Amino acid sequence: MSEPDTDTQPQAPDATPPDYLSGNKTAWQEKAADYIDAAEAAWDSDQPYWGVFGIPDTHTHLLPEDMSGMHCIELGCGTAYVSAWMRRRGATVVALDPTPNQLTTARRLQQQHGLDIEIIEGFAESVPLPNASFDFAISEYGAALWSDPYLWIPEAARLLKPGGQLVLLTNSALMMMCAPDYESEGPVGEQLLRPYFDMHRIQWPDCPGQTEFHLNHGDWISLFTANQLVVERLVELRVPPGAETRYPWADKDWGNQWPLEEAWVVRKAVA
Ligand SMILES: C[S@@+](CC[C@H](N)C(=O)[O-])C[C@H]1O[C@@H](n2cnc3c(N)ncnc32)[C@H](O)[C@@H]1O
Repeated sequence: MSEPDTDTQPQAPDATPPDYLSGNKTAWQEKAADYIDAAEAAWDSDQPYWGVFGIPDTHTHLLPEDMSGMHCIELGCGTAYVSAWMRRRGATVVALDPTPNQLTTARRLQQQHGLDIEIIEGFAESVPLPNASFDFAISEYGAALWSDPYLWIPEAARLLKPGGQLVLLTNSALMMMCAPDYESEGPVGEQLLRPYFDMHRIQWPDCPGQTEFHLNHGDWISLFTANQLVVERLVELRVPPGAETRYPWADKDWGNQWPLEEAWVVRKAVA
């Protein structure tokens, strides 16, 4: 898909131009092979779980138990296991991601599990679908981390029906202040290493060509409000005792005391 036409996008004054799209897509083309094993396990699971420690949805309640009759979209689906969980709960599902190698895994597992999910190659900044199409939109570390929120949140709001829900899960604002610049420096620590204000766009020095996006809580709330999205919950994920992760930056003892990850649950206002 071509880059989004920013002239037609609802754009906040401080949105960055989407110059980061191809760098992130190239990076994910290379990372995709490392996500196959996790994808197989997640597709095999009947129970949803979230984030870098696989915290069960029984702790967080991010997905409705019964999604029958709901039309849902996953923005930055990667290998699309969240889409599989939503389909199994009765929803019809569109799974969108820009990275062909991720979608190759998604399509293979979709066939293997016999689930009819519509898989689309594209960016969350510009989704080729009509306004007010969906009852539920979700992003777990997809658009939520790799897409400028000042571009993709207006697009998610446009796609939702009035009363529709958006859930996004990403690194916590607190974690972003405490993570060292280089992964080789060790996991997240107990010192504030970077400012809370003006987070927005982050390029890690050991990940050249990649751009992440993070907002502090006040900026998330202002952005939701500007897009008629009403905050229902901020779920700060707590790492349960005994949980394990393959991500070296994520310290389980730290994550049992402070939130490493957070999920916003917001709902499109009914006019
Ligand atoms: C970590 S995966 C998310 C999928 C899955 N939930 C997971 O945690 O493994 C990140 C995904 O974001 C996708 N992505 C990168 N830029 C994006 C963009 N602008 N819009 C939507 N998705 C994007 C990547 O292609 C990648 O598949």
